Amino acid sequence: MKGVILAGGLGTRLRPLTLVTNKHLLPVYHEPMIYYPIRCLINAGIDEILLVTGGQFAGDFLRLLRNGQELNVRHLAYAYQEGEGGIADALKLSEDFADGGKICVILGDNIIENNICRAAANFREQPSGAKLMLKEVSDPRRFGTARFEGDDPSGRIVEIIEKPDNPPSNYAVTGIYFYDFDVFEICQTLKPSKRNELEITDVNNAYIQRGDLTHEVLDGWWSDAGTFDSLHSASSLVAKGGANHAGH
Ligand code: G1P
Repeated sequence: MKGVILAGGLGTRLRPLTLVTNKHLLPVYHEPMIYYPIRCLINAGIDEILLVTGGQFAGDFLRLLRNGQELNVRHLAYAYQEGEGGIADALKLSEDFADGGKICVILGDNIIENNICRAAANFREQPSGAKLMLKEVSDPRRFGTARFEGDDPSGRIVEIIEKPDNPPSNYAVTGIYFYDFDVFEICQTLKPSKRNELEITDVNNAYIQRGDLTHEVLDGWWSDAGTFDSLHSASSLVAKGGANHAGH
């Protein structure tokens, strides 16, 4: 299984910092944000990675990461996203790289305390479809949020609602997703949302329609780092105890 890191976008919620660099190059405590999703994949044994980015600072990723060797990436590829078409639009650029196989997709601003080894192993065994990583949060209105069959978080997800006013549960869909190659066919069917982007939530709802979506709940803390509050909280969590603890 190969890995795809989506690290585009304008990072408008972090202006003025993102007027002079890409959001994913900002520091999370002592390291650039992008190191964390790379390590998350590496810890799960995924060492062929495509980094999708865009905008005027795209070249800085190459300067920082070069061929990825320092972070134990066996093969680091880069793709450039034109415009701001959203997460699912960026994902389309990984079709050739995926080469017919399964992929683990992680948003470049998602940082976790532990690892996704067990979920990756389970998805390798899953014959088809997708798997999402969820996390219980206190503010589900900020995220894609899951509605479960019988309101039971261990049961099937019946719908995902993007940033709901009335959250159907406290379980956020994190930015860590596993997909089979059908994801690219699904991406072709998407229509732009209200924010004029192709939404990853629509991709995930398409897998629900097919009856081919599983999920697991992350253990340990999870933070996205796309706002000043979450960037600050991610930095202090890393300062206190580190991130991406290896293990099984
Ligand atoms: C995106 C997804 C959302 C998900 C979140 C996780 O939100 O659309 O479903 O819960 O990432 O970080 P965005 O950061 O684009 O607002």
